[in-house]
Amino acid sequence: MDLGSLPLVAVTPIDHPLAEHLLLALRDRTTPPAVFRTLTKRLTTVLMLEATRDYPTRPRTVETPLEETTGRSLAQPLVAVPILRAGLGMLDAVVELFPAVRVGYLGLERDEATFQPSEYYAKLPRLDDARTFVLDPMLATGGSASAALQSVKEAGAGEVTMVSVVSAPEGVKVLEDDHPDVRIFTAALDRELSESAYILPGLGDFGDRLFGTEP
Ligand code: PRP
Ligand code: URA
Repeated sequence: MDLGSLPLVAVTPIDHPLAEHLLLALRDRTTPPAVFRTLTKRLTTVLMLEATRDYPTRPRTVETPLEETTGRSLAQPLVAVPILRAGLGMLDAVVELFPAVRVGYLGLERDEATFQPSEYYAKLPRLDDARTFVLDPMLATGGSASAALQSVKEAGAGEVTMVSVVSAPEGVKVLEDDHPDVRIFTAALDRELSESAYILPGLGDFGDRLFGTEP
């Protein structure tokens, strides 16, 4: 697609050979759920390293076995909020990279006819002192992500980042309009949405492929 038509200030497509390699394997319809889960975790690791590149740090002094030295350590709490179900596939990577993470959960489901999201579960930790990362692998119409971002903001979140695997231009536009302050990190900006609001070329229904519930 024409990247020039997108608000690239807000969207960062990850440009890394490993991310491309993992994404293509996720797109492959023959990839079984067990492999799909492993690939999702690896790709989320790459995405999170990029999404936290400017994470605040503060100086800290330690004693090595030989002498004193000063380095830097993370200076702000981190919150991860996976959107159920598919966002759960991204959570393990974040927990392994940031063991002190606080985790919140938002359950959102798209209506199959209207594509409108409805929230069926919400459990959020303290957000106002942290950086919040909302995890959802598919940014399609943008309805689910926009509703999730609204929920975390209403719960007190300050700086919020959206992390997705595949994004459609339509969804990016919705977030740009509804949440211009939120940065989006994604492994792919795909071409368009289908009539049934699936991302093209996309990778199908992420939740079904992750949890082995394909019809
Ligand atoms: C999928 C996906 C996103 C949403 C994206 O979830 O995981 O949450 O669709 O679509 P949107 O941008 O048009 O809102 P779905 O509602 O299918 O639920 P699931 O995770 O339980 O499969
Ligand atoms: N949700 C998915 O899982 N896949 C799509 O292509 C769109 C929404």
